[in-house]
Amino acid sequence: MTDDVTADIDEHTITDAVVASFAATPDSRLREVLGALVRGLHTAIREVEPTLAEWEHAIDFLTRTGQQCDDVRQEFVLLSDVLGISSLVENINHRKVGGATEATVLGPFHMTVSPPRRNGDSIDEVGGDQPCVVTGRVLSVSGEPVPGASVDVWQADEHGFYDVQQPDVQPAGNGRGLFTTDEEGRFWFRTTVPAHYPIPTDGPVGELLAATDRPPFRPAHVHFIADAPGFVPVTTHVFVDGSPYLDADAVFAVKRSLIRDFASVDDAEQAARFGTVNPFRLAVIDLVVEPTATPSP
Ligand code: BEZ
Ligand code: FE
Repeated sequence: MTDDVTADIDEHTITDAVVASFAATPDSRLREVLGALVRGLHTAIREVEPTLAEWEHAIDFLTRTGQQCDDVRQEFVLLSDVLGISSLVENINHRKVGGATEATVLGPFHMTVSPPRRNGDSIDEVGGDQPCVVTGRVLSVSGEPVPGASVDVWQADEHGFYDVQQPDVQPAGNGRGLFTTDEEGRFWFRTTVPAHYPIPTDGPVGELLAATDRPPFRPAHVHFIADAPGFVPVTTHVFVDGSPYLDADAVFAVKRSLIRDFASVDDAEQAARFGTVNPFRLAVIDLVVEPTATPSP
């Protein structure tokens, strides 16, 4: 036995030893993150006491999660989504500011640039059978309209598919639009009422949901990013009131403040004004943005 070795690693000393191994990390944030991660992971391992076979299974799951990733598929992000981590990070980074529209996850389908469109245009290029008008304003938290704001919109169709999931069925840009608010801060467009849809289940995350009896569905929603000079951009969704899965969103992104009535309207005059058929559904959606902080002198 050698006298100059003082380490004596066992299940009780190992956590402090690993945390101490990072003590000289020059980047203090990295040191903090690694310490917290090691402590958290070791706590979970102590609680679960996995067998070696179980740990191998976990490594295999993570390996296959990585192998499922490519230019258009990010299975690790999906794993973070279904574990609620994406939503938690979003919530921490966009804490509710009095009166501003609450933020939610961006999701994986904002992968193409939305086509610029004019107010009143339709984002439904295939003629869905649930005609709908979405209208609203971008407002500052003080209630002032924000003219010239960009409103980026993307949604699934009434069968629950995004254009990028069905390149042979839907034209690129279907269900998407980049609008600019008018002088009164208003935007409006025609669309089809989106349906609830499952997140991708053909990979390891799908296996996890199946093994835990969790539905893979997201409630029906329309995504928005509102952005204007001098304001903090807000990335959010608006959920269709009454949609299935509002209480069981696979990615934990529902907030009560973001649920809106997509009301049935039977009014030929209003339909004509919006250039849609009668009857139609109408959603009124104001997006409220907070001013960027002015740096203190
Ligand atoms: C989405 O709403 O587009 C989405 C968000 C998270 C995971 C999958 C889909
Ligand atoms: Fe979505």
